[in-house]
Amino acid sequence: MATLQIHCVASGHLQMQARVYIDSANHLSVNICVIGCGTIGTTIAREAESIPTVETVYLTDRSKECATRLQERLSKVTYVSDIVPVLNDIRLVIEAASQDAARYYAPLAISAGVDVLIMSVGVLHDEEFQNDIFRLARRKGAKVFVPSGAIGGIDALTAGRLGEIEEVTLTTTKPPSAFYGNTYLAGRGIEASELRVRTNLFEGSAGEAVRLFPQNINVAATVALAGIGFDRTKIQIVCDPQVKTNEHHLRAKGSFGELDVVTRNVPSQKNPRTSHLAALSAISAIKKITGEAWIGA
Ligand SMILES: NC(=O)c1ccc[n+]([C@@H]2O[C@H](COP(=O)([O-])OP(=O)(O)OC[C@H]3O[C@@H](n4cnc5c(N)ncnc54)[C@H](O)[C@@H]3O)[C@@H](O)[C@H]2O)c1
Repeated sequence: MATLQIHCVASGHLQMQARVYIDSANHLSVNICVIGCGTIGTTIAREAESIPTVETVYLTDRSKECATRLQERLSKVTYVSDIVPVLNDIRLVIEAASQDAARYYAPLAISAGVDVLIMSVGVLHDEEFQNDIFRLARRKGAKVFVPSGAIGGIDALTAGRLGEIEEVTLTTTKPPSAFYGNTYLAGRGIEASELRVRTNLFEGSAGEAVRLFPQNINVAATVALAGIGFDRTKIQIVCDPQVKTNEHHLRAKGSFGELDVVTRNVPSQKNPRTSHLAALSAISAIKKITGEAWIGA
C-alpha cells in the first residue's frame, strides 16, 4: 500500500492536507474518524471493514473501554484519546455521539479544514451554532454533512425547496415505550404506557417539537433543515400502542408537486431509541463522500 501526501493550496490562505492511500490496483482510500462507539458508531466501524475507500477508522469515545474493545476486534480501527494529533491524516470526522460532542468536535475538525458528518442533528436547532459552523466551513473550505438518518424523502425535499414550498408536515407515530421519561407529557399528567388507543400527543412547529420531544429531535431537525425551517415545518406526534416501529410520514407540497413518504423504522437491537436505518444512512453517506459516485443527491 503506497501513501501519497496531497497538499492543496487554494485562495492564498487555505492549506489542507489529506493522506490518500493507493493500492496496487490504483484504488484510492482515505482515513476517517468516528466520535462515539455506541449503536451508530459501532455499526459504522464494523461496516468500514468492508468499505474499500476507507483505510483507517480512528475511533474515540469518552468511554475508552468501549473504543479499545472495538480496536481489538476490528482491523481498521485505531483508538485515539484525542483527535487533534491525527486531524491532518483524516478526510472526514463522523460525530455519532451526542449534541455536546457535536459542539466540541465539529468546529475542531472544520477549523483544520476537515469535513464533518453530524448525526446529532438536533444541535443545529441552535441557530447561532449552525451559523458559526457553516461560516467556518466556508472559510476553511470544509463541508458539513447531515445524512437523512432515520427518515426517507430528504433528497426530494432539498431538491423541491429550490422552487416554492407551500407546506411541510411530519407525522411521527411511536409505541408508548418511545415516550418514557418525557417531562412535557409528565407535566400534563399523561403516562404513555397507560394509553390503550392511538393518541395525538402534539401538534405544532418543528422548533417546539424539538424542545418538547427530544426523542424526536433528530428527524424533526433534519426535515426542518432540508425544507422550510423550524418555524414553518408542522409536526404531529402520535403514540400508538399497536405499533412496533417508529413511523415517520413526511408530506410536502410545492411548485415541484407533492411528496408523500412513509418510513417504518426497525429499532436497533442495542439501542431501541435509535432506528437501524440511521446507522445505515451514515454508512451510505460515508460511501458517497469517499467513493467515486453519488446516487440520490
Ligand atoms: N440523525 C438521525 O436520524 C439520528 C438517529 C438516531 C440517533 N441519532 C443521534 O446520533 C447520536 C448517536 O446515537 P447512538 O444511538 O449511537 O447513541 P449511543 O448512546 O448508543 O452511543 C453514543 C456514544 O457516544 C459516546 N459519547 C457521548 N458523548 C460523547 C462525547 N462528548 N465525547 C465522546 N464520546 C461521547 C457515549 O459514550 C456512547 O458510547 C445521538 O446523539 C443520537 O441522538 C441521530
